[in-house]
Amino acid sequence: MSISFIPITIKPATSFQNIEEHRLLMSYSLAQYWNIPTSRPLTVSFGKIKLQVMIECSPLTKDEVFFSEGLQKELLLPLLNIKLIGSYTQKNHSLTIGPVIGLLTDLNESDENLQPNFRSIHSFCHELQEVVSDIGGFFFVFHPKDVTQEKIYGYYLQEDDWVKADLPLPDVVYNRIHSRKLEATKSLSRLKELLYQHNIPLFNDRFLSKEDVHQLLISEIHLKPHLPDTARANKETIIDFIAKYSSLFIKPIHGSQGRQIIRLTEVNNRYQAEYSSCTNNGGTRLYETPEKFIRQFYRDSKDRQYIVQQAIPLLTYKNRPLDFRVLCHKNFQEIWKATSAVARISSENQFVSNLAKGGEMMKPLSLLTQLFDRKTAIQQLALMKELAAEASSLIDQKTCGLFAELGIDIGVDEAGGLWIIEANSKPSKQSEDSLNKVRPSAKALVEYCTFLAFSKIVTREDSDDDITRNHDNE
Ligand SMILES: Nc1ncnc2c1ncn2[C@@H]1O[C@H](COP(=O)(O)OP(=O)(O)O)[C@@H](O)[C@H]1O
Ligand SMILES: [Mg+2]
Repeated sequence: MSISFIPITIKPATSFQNIEEHRLLMSYSLAQYWNIPTSRPLTVSFGKIKLQVMIECSPLTKDEVFFSEGLQKELLLPLLNIKLIGSYTQKNHSLTIGPVIGLLTDLNESDENLQPNFRSIHSFCHELQEVVSDIGGFFFVFHPKDVTQEKIYGYYLQEDDWVKADLPLPDVVYNRIHSRKLEATKSLSRLKELLYQHNIPLFNDRFLSKEDVHQLLISEIHLKPHLPDTARANKETIIDFIAKYSSLFIKPIHGSQGRQIIRLTEVNNRYQAEYSSCTNNGGTRLYETPEKFIRQFYRDSKDRQYIVQQAIPLLTYKNRPLDFRVLCHKNFQEIWKATSAVARISSENQFVSNLAKGGEMMKPLSLLTQLFDRKTAIQQLALMKELAAEASSLIDQKTCGLFAELGIDIGVDEAGGLWIIEANSKPSKQSEDSLNKVRPSAKALVEYCTFLAFSKIVTREDSDDDITRNHDNE
């Protein structure tokens, strides 16, 4: 097997006589490096498009390859200089250029003349592009409605503008749809089916339910001490939890951003319910009995499903409870690592730490060193990262679908114990160390996409060694 990856810059050529022909021009040194025969047509793949191309050699710079206009157009490659990774496989006499990375999201294009708005991940998309430009690759953003059988009408960044164009089906898709409603539509299932048919990996392809995550983690004995007691909320379980715990949380199974959460605490034989989605004093009500609370709870809950959970006595800072968001990614060896962590401190008069509910971010070590001695603080942070990576790896293994990024909420109790509060498959990009120009997660994700895109070539080459050798099963 001989495969080698090399960054190359594709440039539109003006020197070909017939610009419509599928031709490319490369340096003698590159042709020699790849040991590429120039006498017969080469198969060039860009995303899921494949074309037969004639090669010419010329004394050029080694990493530049000129494409005829016809070739570039048919590959749906914008007529620009684009740095890509090139991989030549001798066995198939084929050149793959990419990776082509598509980000699927519920973008907003309310005014045709204005730039699209990628909402909460807009600047993150710029960062992803920056990493892709650095490593080599082609990145675009698209809405599920703009996908057809052969191509995608998506946005790529040119200078500072997002340009909408027909683009190829990519090598890999990162799902950043934030609307559970859209994610549950038929058109999205059709899109997933299309990607599946084309063998295009889609990662973080769905939301996680708080109940499922708890159930799959609790079956790991060593994680038990880190998981708050949790059950599906119903009359019996709520009564049971009230008897067992002086304070408990009730949270929507499919909730996010700290919405619709209730903290119920027994105070002098009465039951104080605090509501995260109400502000000021409307946010707290007192009930004489658990039954009265439950009656009101069912009146308010509108068929939503909830879990009931033991409240963890979280560390506080200036009397405000806090937790940590640890962002984890799968690397090219398919090992989960924590890439960043932040502390989130609930705002005053709030008991959830979510930034969407006014929570404040702090660097984890600056905070922990105010609460513990330095050595313990460093140790706690390291343990938190280990626990988050372990939880991510288990969720990835035990849930169907492919995941490459998870945001784990970790609480620390007053005795220093660590608690896994929840796992997010669409973690907010706001709750990430934003002091760097490019967030660590942008780098980690592009690296993983590149691995996914090219590992298929390696696998294909390997499988060529068996009896199905003359099938190019892409
Ligand atoms: N069992 C608990 N004990 C203490 N605080 C909790 C508990 N569950 C949630 N919280 C607080 O509420 C926040 C939101 O809860 P979470 O389960 O992460 O739901 P969401 O999906 O809305 O973020 C947490 O970040 C934490 O601040
Ligand atoms: Mg959360």
